[in-house]
Formats: sequence, structure tokens, C-alpha cells
Amino acid sequence: MSAAADADAAPRPKHLLDLADWTPKQIAALFDTTDVMAQVMTRTIKKVPALQGFTVGTLFFENSTRTRLSFERAARAQSADVISFAAGASSLSKGESLKDTLRTIDAMQADLYVVRHPASGAPHQLTRWTDARVVNAGDGRRAHPTQALLDAYTFKTRFPEFAGFEGVKLAIVGDVAHSRVARSNVELWTKLGAHVTLCGPRTLLPEEFGERSGVTLTHRLADAVEGAHAVMALRLQRERMAGPLLPSLAEYRARYQVSRAALALAHPDALVMHPGPMNRDVEIEGPLADDPRSVIEAQVANGVPVRMAVLYTLLVGGKGRA
Ligand code: CP
Repeated sequence: MSAAADADAAPRPKHLLDLADWTPKQIAALFDTTDVMAQVMTRTIKKVPALQGFTVGTLFFENSTRTRLSFERAARAQSADVISFAAGASSLSKGESLKDTLRTIDAMQADLYVVRHPASGAPHQLTRWTDARVVNAGDGRRAHPTQALLDAYTFKTRFPEFAGFEGVKLAIVGDVAHSRVARSNVELWTKLGAHVTLCGPRTLLPEEFGERSGVTLTHRLADAVEGAHAVMALRLQRERMAGPLLPSLAEYRARYQVSRAALALAHPDALVMHPGPMNRDVEIEGPLADDPRSVIEAQVANGVPVRMAVLYTLLVGGKGRA
């Protein structure tokens, strides 16, 4: 489908577990394919036969709105069949193990699994128990690669003056410590040549990030936002916090809320991003989420063609089951 894919000598990974395994050329090829899929989504009939005969299993052991629905939309828009597993409505509650659950679903012959799990590394573990391809839809605090891909793709479409990501400044503000979105975005944007500034209180900003090339840490919102081409706000992930990590929510808001006032320091055309779900008036000022600078809904919309491209690349770029 794309010339860029042929130009890349590295073998394309069988799975999408995290972006460390994918080269910049492979990511560029994925974005080329996304452009084609985005065009499909502008047609009256938003459906192509590209994945006819393939079955995609969505295995969600943790809640999701955007990721699960957009993967299912992405599969069906390419005429794949979809089987869906939701942990809350499954036999996990009757004591079935993760391995037996996968083997049960695997007996139904899916070609690719989209997996979200609260345990870091769970999608990697599943690759040992199935011949099907596996896409990580978020594991613990470790990685959420398709979120980072759709974030970067959204930036690319809105900031065409950057041919690549060299010279781009991304600020990520909030609960970095518990965020798989932050980890995958750091991996992707720095790999593509951008500079990433991570900002938050000391308890939510692990110093290990500062050891990475192309990454700066700061506890001052003004320093993070200054000159940024995109500012991404992150939710406080209370469900992953073992204890209280903030003196008070009011203080957190005052120091770290991404607001219209804070944006005044950013690049004049800076984009406001949020992976969702968002808590208005906590990590992001409510009206800023609806401001023309906000691309939060575009991020959701782009999730479909990006995930179409991921499914197409893994299933048709290779074959279904190995
Ligand atoms: N961004 C994201 O992963 O959203 P969901 O949890 O709704 O899938």
C-alpha cells in the first residue's frame, strides 16, 4: 500500500506491543497508510474490503471507551469480523485464568488480538500463548502505543509546516508517573526527532525520564509550556495511586492546570491535546477543552484511521496467523 514500507529494510514486527520495536521509517509508512484510511473515512460509504475474512478479537481486561470502540470501528470499516471480550461480563469472575481465557478465545480462531490489561507486560505474555498477532491497547502504566501514534498523527496533520518532527516541542503536563500515554509519547516523539518536556509535581514526575535523550523535566508549568507547539494534559490516575501523592487538589490545579492563561506562553498556534478521559477543571481548564486550539475530538477521530492502518499493516502487510 505504501512505498515507504518497501523502503524500510528492517523486518516489520509481528506485533505492536510498544513503539521501541518500530523504526521511524516503519512509523512513517504507518502514517502513509493512515492517510489512505483517513480518506476512506471521508467517503459516504465508510467501508472497504481490505480485511474481509480476518477476525479481530478485542480483549479488554480494563475499562475503555475510545480505544475499544475505535479499534472495533477500524476493524469493521475494513470488513473484518470482530469478537469482543469484556472482563466484567466474562468467566474471569468464575476463576478462569488469563491463559485459559486466551486459549478459549483463541479456539475461535481470531487473527489478531487487541489487548488492554491493568498489568504491565500482559500483552507480551499473550504473544507466548497464541500464534495470532497482538496489539497493545494499554498495559498498566507501561505503554499505549496506538494512543501515541494517533497523538503524533494529529499533530502532523495540524502542523504541516513541520515536514517531520525535528524542532517540534511537546509539553506533557500532569500525572506522568502513572501514565502509559506519557511513556509511549516520549518513546514516539523523541524517536521522530521532537523534544518532549514533562511537567508535574515531584511525586508524579519520575526522575528516570530525565535520563532520556530529547527529554527535559520541570516542575514549573510556565517552563514546560513556553514555546511549545503542543501541550498535552494528563489526568490524575487515582486508580493507580497507592496513597495520597498531592497535598491538595486545589494546589495541584493552581500549579499544573493547563489553562488559557498558561497557553499564552506557548507557540501562537499551539495545539491543546488530551488523550481522555478528561476531568474538566482539574488537569485542563474546562473552556480550553472546547477552544479552537483544542484537538481533543480530532485525536479521537484520528484514532479510527490510525488503528485501521495498524490492523491493515499487521494483517495484510504480513499474513494472519503465523
Ligand atoms: N485514551 C484512552 O485510552 O481512552 P479510553 O480509556 O477511553 O480507551
